[in-house]
Amino acid sequence: MTEENEKNVENSSSAKTEKFEELFPQITLFDISIDTGLQDDEGNILPRPYTKSQMRKWLKKVKWENHKAEKRAREKKRAKERRRKAQAANIDIGPSRKALKKMKEKHKKRGGIIIDLSFGHLMIEKDRFKVIKQILRCYSINRRSEQPLHFHITSFGEKSRNDMSRHNGYENWDIEFHEQPYLEVFPKEKLVYLTSESENIIESFDDDTYYIIGGLVDHNQYKGLCHNISVEQGIRHGRLPLDKYINMKTRKVLTIDHVFEIMLKISEGLTWQETLIRVLPVRKGAHICNASNSNLSLDSENAVNSI
Ligand SMILES: C[S@@+](CC[C@H](N)C(=O)[O-])C[C@H]1O[C@@H](n2cnc3c(N)ncnc32)[C@H](O)[C@@H]1O
Repeated sequence: MTEENEKNVENSSSAKTEKFEELFPQITLFDISIDTGLQDDEGNILPRPYTKSQMRKWLKKVKWENHKAEKRAREKKRAKERRRKAQAANIDIGPSRKALKKMKEKHKKRGGIIIDLSFGHLMIEKDRFKVIKQILRCYSINRRSEQPLHFHITSFGEKSRNDMSRHNGYENWDIEFHEQPYLEVFPKEKLVYLTSESENIIESFDDDTYYIIGGLVDHNQYKGLCHNISVEQGIRHGRLPLDKYINMKTRKVLTIDHVFEIMLKISEGLTWQETLIRVLPVRKGAHICNASNSNLSLDSENAVNSI
């Protein structure tokens, strides 16, 4: 390669780097003037890392921030390309996201599901992120349903907004986010808190009711919390009829997304037994109570989520 060629290559690669950095501004470890949004478990902003573990956490965040925009842009480009190819090959890719939303709006039931996010102060960041991950699953299950449920999130405060902001465009999702607690948004008599500790059993899905799921990942640390809250607030409560339809090896406290999916399937008209067998993971060791239904498969490809 001649000296001039080498220079040209060098120039074009530095122009590329400049363009890349313009598109995706990179934060470095020493750029402490940039607020990375690093917070401790109480939500206090950490101005800069002091200890080794803070440094590790901070670096992880910086790495994530640096790659977020780039990753999203790449995903968007790939999706656009897929759509273009499908159209060129005359493959029906179905209605657009917007059209789908409009269409489903018509079929939506009146009642719905509320996820109560008032427990942020009881969880460490890792568990709060698990809650968000489970909400994401609920959202995608609901989106794919022919008859989606009204989906509300209440007590959506600053901490939750911060946790959620990792998911670009979440504000446009088909979920209604409320800053206020559910009691300030819905009529009390239309609320039912779902809790495994309730002595009442949910028998069917009532279209005129809002079912509340506690947005809590607590590893059984706060046993009975949601039940106590509903009793104190004087709102109805009920548990899923797990023991009536299936025998389970493990305890009967389910994850947020499993409870959501069970309620959705019941609202769609599936039987409890079919629903429970389809939704619950093998890990839960669920097997049916009634031998006449033994043709129901216990195999489930569900991911195992920790409670
Ligand atoms: C991981 S659990 C949280 C457990 C928490 N200790 C509590 O007090 O509810 C998440 C939520 O799923 C719902 N849930 C879990 N298992 C349930 C069951 N068997 N019946 C009704 N709701 C259930 C409840 O709304 C619960 O708050």
